[in-house]
Amino acid sequence: MDIRKLSEAAVFAREKSYSPYSGFKVGAALLAKNGSVYTGCNIENAAYTPTICAERVAFAKAVSEGELEFTAIAVAGWGSDAGFAYPCGVCRQVMMEFCDPSDFIIIVTDGTENREHTLAELLPEGFGPRSL
Ligand code: THU
Repeated sequence: MDIRKLSEAAVFAREKSYSPYSGFKVGAALLAKNGSVYTGCNIENAAYTPTICAERVAFAKAVSEGELEFTAIAVAGWGSDAGFAYPCGVCRQVMMEFCDPSDFIIIVTDGTENREHTLAELLPEGFGPRSL
């Protein structure tokens, strides 16, 4: 699967966003090494703190299906002022648990343009399983 298709899957997943409190819709599409794609959207909650980001929904779906090896994630999020939504710190840490930071690719899209980064770029000197 190429970057453009993964990005399109994230844009599509964004449509399912349950975000009545922030109104900020985010979609994610997580590519496993075997080619499977797991999508997610942000799911908010009236109590606020149980809110879960799109990226972590995608990881939870994948890991709960037995997937543990990943290549890339595309994240689609933009607000009224167009712009890119980069993964929050908690999501970057979850990626760190399952992905090699120098290989894992994070694609952010505003629905038009795609930007690519490694996890190591977005979480330098991250703490992960190999730190213990
Ligand atoms: N959000 C995500 O889904 N992913 C991120 O990486 C950043 C934030 C969601 C959480 C919340 O529902 C909304 O965006 C506003 O913070």
